[in-house]
Amino acid sequence: MWYSSQLWMLLLSIMLLSSSSYIAAGRVDKENYSVKTSVFFSPPIYLNHGSVQDKYYHDIPFPRGHIAIKSFDGEVVDENGNSIPLHETYLHHWVVARYYSQNEAKDGDLEKFIYAGNSGPCRNLGQYFGLGSETRKTNTWVPDPYGIVIGNPMEIPEGYEEKWLLNVHAIDTRNVEDRLGCTECKCSLYNVTSDQYGRPLANGYVGGLHCCYDETQCRVKEGFNGGLRKLYLKYTVKWVEWNPRILPVKIFILDVTDTGDYPPGSSAINAPFSCKVEYSVPSCDSSSEANRECVDIRKTKVVLPHGGDIIYGVAHQHTGGVGSALYGEDGQLLCSSNPFYGKGEEAGDEAGYIVGMSTCYPKPGSLNIKDGELLTLISNYSSLRMHTGVMGLFYLLLVEPQPKLNTLFSLQEVTVPYLVEHWWVLLLAGGIMAVVAAAIYRRRNETDSYQMVVN
Ligand SMILES: *[C@@H]1O[C@H](CO)[C@@H](O)[C@H](O)[C@H]1NC(C)=O
Ligand SMILES: *[C@@H]1O[C@H](CO)[C@@H](O)[C@H](O)[C@H]1NC(C)=O
Ligand SMILES: *[C@@H]1O[C@H](CO)[C@@H](O)[C@H](O)[C@H]1NC(C)=O
Repeated sequence: MWYSSQLWMLLLSIMLLSSSSYIAAGRVDKENYSVKTSVFFSPPIYLNHGSVQDKYYHDIPFPRGHIAIKSFDGEVVDENGNSIPLHETYLHHWVVARYYSQNEAKDGDLEKFIYAGNSGPCRNLGQYFGLGSETRKTNTWVPDPYGIVIGNPMEIPEGYEEKWLLNVHAIDTRNVEDRLGCTECKCSLYNVTSDQYGRPLANGYVGGLHCCYDETQCRVKEGFNGGLRKLYLKYTVKWVEWNPRILPVKIFILDVTDTGDYPPGSSAINAPFSCKVEYSVPSCDSSSEANRECVDIRKTKVVLPHGGDIIYGVAHQHTGGVGSALYGEDGQLLCSSNPFYGKGEEAGDEAGYIVGMSTCYPKPGSLNIKDGELLTLISNYSSLRMHTGVMGLFYLLLVEPQPKLNTLFSLQEVTVPYLVEHWWVLLLAGGIMAVVAAAIYRRRNETDSYQMVVN
């Protein structure tokens, strides 16, 4: 009797061991096995030396159906698909936004569109995805079991379709007089005195998006007009079919220039946006003596009415950026995201440009933002020289806090559906059991040292 119960323990542990290692291996494979990859190209973008294109494309190709996005990456390529380095075409930003369009609505038919923005506080930063020069080396992967769920037929209003809008802002800096000046949209280099709507520039506005809008031209070196070429934003979307085990994340985009003045009520359509999107960094010799380190520290407080567990976080900064961080109300660091600069010439490693941002993947459930919590966002820039048109955004993915499961329950939750789908694991485990049992029985009959086996 004693032998058989010992034997059972042994077999049971072997079975658990073998099946759990299969679970680990099987889930990883299965996870990425079912990930689909779609690669698309924007309409062509035509650029001359020093020219700017800031175009909006409606109803771009996108994966359709009720799915969960796992990553979104983009880069600028030429007609042959070759990556174009940032010192030739500076990708100021690309932004992808979701909207609902009434069936048969045409571009510009504004009443027939419903904007389906993210969950963040900035009305003018409603995109779902968006990066800039850092796009090649920033990890955008949403870990399992999470996903950015789209195309849910329950959410799409009757008579509407879900569509996607792409905005690409690219600056050609081949043969320009001042590369950094062009990428920072210095108004003097663009020879503009009014913004894209023809309004005169505000007093003291020396650089930013109001000076490098669509079809503007940055100053080039003598004799370098022309050089027209045709480029594309290539974007790669990884996604999985929706299934009930996917936990949907919500997207929040915070902005360090957010003044927090949200006009009460929804009628204040024309009220100035509380998120200014861009700001300037004065050079340290012109600012106070106290700043010996020459670091410009921007700080703002932001409240999220509805929080959640942090799944992913990343900041967006421009050249000169030296780090960004988000803190909770109690001062706890929630996520810090730092730029890395390129060192060479080739695409993805361009010296002087931010080619990637570090990301945060906290252990799910370990970092939570409470409803109404007062967060602090910090964006640091080097102020060794002046910078115009810089940004300090923070992109967060949050999930509804999951009820804490006890280990046994969660083990069952994971194991049972898995074993049902993968009956062969049971078969295999059964086979191993039979072989082991046979071996043990054989040893037991041959010798008395069965206890060594059991040990
Ligand atoms: C799945 O693939 C993505 C990139 O394609 C990677 O970042 C991620 O770590 C992979 N997941 C696992 C569990 O291997
Ligand atoms: C700048 O703009 C003015 C008026 O728009 C124009 O007359 C002038 O030639 C421009 N200068 C350069 C260098 O393009
Ligand atoms: C910002 O700069 C200050 C001063 O150098 C430093 O104490 C702080 O840690 C920096 N924060 C980030 C997120 O880089």
